[in-house]
Amino acid sequence: MIETTHNRIEIMHGVNLDQLGRRDPEQYGRLTFDELERHVADAASHLGLETRFFQSNHEGAFVEHLHRLEGLADGLILNPGAWTHYSYAIRDALELAGLPTVEVHLSDVDSREDWRRHSVIAELCFARVAGKGKDGYGDALQALKTELAP
Ligand code: DQA
Repeated sequence: MIETTHNRIEIMHGVNLDQLGRRDPEQYGRLTFDELERHVADAASHLGLETRFFQSNHEGAFVEHLHRLEGLADGLILNPGAWTHYSYAIRDALELAGLPTVEVHLSDVDSREDWRRHSVIAELCFARVAGKGKDGYGDALQALKTELAP
């Protein structure tokens, strides 16, 4: 019997997240974006998960990346930045991608401004982690590993 693995995780970051390290450290910590990606890759390899990373400040590029995921990923970690709160284009592309998804935010979006409390992608994600900084990604990877287990 051919054994199929379900361990390919796509990690997508949206607008302004490439500026980590320069953004408010009280909300987002002091890690640079490269350091965050390295941390996530290490945490994933400890769990036996493969990772690919994508970041864009362009909504259309982000949407097109979601369109192209078919057959390339088994699960998704999504931190769309501010697009989380209003981009129905990303919401619809996420629905098309049809992958088990965890929504992640570095900051505690529920205890900040009112407009950050609303997520247009939440209903399409099976879990959400917010306010745990880089450690939240470890939680998201673990949740995906459990979800994808045969
Ligand atoms: C964020 C929270 C968003 O409200 C904000 O616009 C971001 C980052 C987070 O990771 O905490 O850019 O997604």
